[in-house]
Amino acid sequence: MTGEKTTAEKGLGGSSSEGSFFRLTDAHQAQKNLFHRHQCCLVDRDPDQAMRLLREYRAMLLRHMRDEEEILLPIYERGVIQAGGKPEYFVQEHRKLLDFLDRIKDAMGALAEAEGPDWYQSLFEVLDLETTFKNIGEHHEAREEQFLFPGLDLLLEGEERAEVLARCESLKRESLKGESLKGESLKGES
Ligand SMILES: [Fe+2]
Ligand SMILES: [Fe+2]
Repeated sequence: MTGEKTTAEKGLGGSSSEGSFFRLTDAHQAQKNLFHRHQCCLVDRDPDQAMRLLREYRAMLLRHMRDEEEILLPIYERGVIQAGGKPEYFVQEHRKLLDFLDRIKDAMGALAEAEGPDWYQSLFEVLDLETTFKNIGEHHEAREEQFLFPGLDLLLEGEERAEVLARCESLKRESLKGESLKGESLKGES
């Protein structure tokens, strides 16, 4: 056995992610928690709060995606890229998730107008879209855990690794502050 640490020894996932890019799974969990709160408001018939939380969720997701695309992917591209981990896949999935959020927002508009039995039909339409959205998100996170985070763990060492991790940590803290993005439209961002 050589002195070189394996990816697992550097800390893959879970509580042993200190010093590893797997600590970004905390951000994924925070996003899931916020989306869950949004869904609770939907079924509790609180459309205003459900929409507010959806906007907050989108803003959090968008910041996370920008951090990945502007900071992490350019570094990841320096390494050996495996077939399932092409950088464009991550970006395409980000766009797909954002497009899906716009469809959900439109379906919520229909829900806000619906009454009586139509309300239930509209609610199920929103929830069906959200189930598909969550499945796409799970698939995307699995790709990041399979390729992006271990790729960065293997690629970065020493000072550069510490710097990039610290930058991610500081951006994550900012994102988790839940800054309100008043007046921000669900559409029209890139
Ligand atoms: Fe991502
Ligand atoms: Fe991510």
